[in-house]
Amino acid sequence: SSTLHRDIDEVLLTQEALAARVAQLGRQIAADYAGRRPLVVGTLKGAVVFMADLVRAMEPTPEGLQLEFVRASSYGAGTVSSGKVALSGTLAAADVEGRHVLLVEDIVDSGRTAVALLEHFKAMGAASVALVSLLSKPSRRTVPCEPDYLCFEVEDKFVVGYGLDFDEQYRSLPYVGVLRPECYSSVD
Ligand code: PRP
Ligand code: MN
Ligand code: MG
Repeated sequence: SSTLHRDIDEVLLTQEALAARVAQLGRQIAADYAGRRPLVVGTLKGAVVFMADLVRAMEPTPEGLQLEFVRASSYGAGTVSSGKVALSGTLAAADVEGRHVLLVEDIVDSGRTAVALLEHFKAMGAASVALVSLLSKPSRRTVPCEPDYLCFEVEDKFVVGYGLDFDEQYRSLPYVGVLRPECYSSVD
């Protein structure tokens, strides 16, 4: 019963739909990682909201589960990826070596961010790497990338909320909504 933000055209995924799907996927991932001490790595900043809900839905919590974060940024203040993925605050190889890394993304768009991070963790000696994403836009791929776990596939609309931003705004909306074109057309 939250009021729709005035910059949002349409709610794509309600708070209830998100909660139900995240709960379901969390249980599935927990079962798959039983006995494997997962290192759950979220990409700042977009994945923070999804990750907070996902790890609390992982029941029973796999023994030895740990949380880490990396900063990956490619968009800046535009709606189109710059094509370069800047990684910072990356983990030390000692933290990753021999661990079962589960990368958490809010969205896989071109695929560049997720692929760059998965390659990075493999190079650091992870025992396994897997990708879980809240959203995927397969129509926008420029590099092959198929999430191992996915909540929702979405069409090519500019979506915000539940962690996803436009120019650092709208991350705290409890739903995923389509941003009104007039709210971003001036920036591109
Ligand atoms: C967004 C999103 C993903 C990435 C997906 O992050 O959160 O991490 O882009 O795009 P790609 O598949 O084309 O690489 P962004 O760079 O906007 O940083 P943010 O998470 O801080 O918003
Ligand atoms: Mn991101
Ligand atoms: Mg962003």
